[in-house]
Amino acid sequence: MTTSNHSALAVDFCGLNFNTPLVLLSGCVGFGEEYTRVKGFSNRDAGAICLKGTTLEPRLGNPPHRVCETPEGMINAIGLQNPGVDKVVNEILPQLDFNETRFIANVSGSTIEDYYETTKRFDDSPIDAIEINISCPNVKEGGVAFGNDPEMSARVVEACRKATNKPLITKLSPNQTDIAGNAQRCIDAGTDAFAAINTLMGMAIDIESRTPIIGNNQGGLSGPAIKPAALLKVHQVYQVCRDHGIPIIGQGGVSCAEDAIEFLIAGATAVGVGTALFYDPLVCQKINAGILEYLQRHELESVQQLTGTLQLHGH
Ligand SMILES: Cc1cc2nc3c(=O)[nH]c(=O)nc-3n(C[C@H](O)[C@H](O)[C@H](O)COP(=O)(O)O)c2cc1C
Repeated sequence: MTTSNHSALAVDFCGLNFNTPLVLLSGCVGFGEEYTRVKGFSNRDAGAICLKGTTLEPRLGNPPHRVCETPEGMINAIGLQNPGVDKVVNEILPQLDFNETRFIANVSGSTIEDYYETTKRFDDSPIDAIEINISCPNVKEGGVAFGNDPEMSARVVEACRKATNKPLITKLSPNQTDIAGNAQRCIDAGTDAFAAINTLMGMAIDIESRTPIIGNNQGGLSGPAIKPAALLKVHQVYQVCRDHGIPIIGQGGVSCAEDAIEFLIAGATAVGVGTALFYDPLVCQKINAGILEYLQRHELESVQQLTGTLQLHGH
């Protein structure tokens, strides 16, 4: 038995059966085929895979440079390059093996109507769940401009809710003051789950030319550098999710089992792995094995027993 089909790792996420709590994150695995060419990699090592951000019309993305390495992380400003929802639904989804894992679409748009239409197209497809990205920092319209405004966040969620009965996951921006208040508005508007957090806005500067390294001037910071910020946000969002039974895909800088376990304890039901895949495509096997070892050492039967078990210090 490989670790990825060990029953202790299985989680129920909005009624979907994830065979491990790990979710491969949007933008880091293409459209689900990216890593299948890597020897030893299996989609089965993840409970779910989020596809690259998809919009109603195709997008070419931003000018280069689009990525830049930073201490313990990276900045990216891809700009949601994608072939458009019709191509994804008609040409890419039929090639995915839905026996291997669950597949989650990641929807973006410049207007509320874009979000509605794109979600509707995915609703009429075999996709297992739909994640609404209202937190992309790399596009001029929509994205984080919606995600940082609770009223607009709620309106996007409300529109997508009308477009589908599939599980709806709202991806929250860390670049806002009151993430828990925003989460509450999204719950009221009909979201089934959250993903937290998306990238933090950042910049890197070439001191010789005195210009930003990233073509888009600014981008989204990801990787281990953002983990402490992400853990606090997940803890805060969990405070409003707990009573509603709303699950969270905790994410931001996860690169080993200990990181994943921290997110589970903070309140996540599933844990995303993104940037770490770029330097170790086989990292999920190691994380799964490490979580299993922890469960055994703590005499826990299921990874689900860890969610939200954080004991705060009393004052
Ligand atoms: C190159 C790159 C592209 C990304 N593209 C998307 C995207 O299309 N949609 C989205 O919701 N998030 C996107 N993200 C954000 C990740 O899904 C994830 O939320 C974030 O990177 C934090 O996790 P990590 O530190 O494990 O990478 C992207 C991240 C990176 C590094």
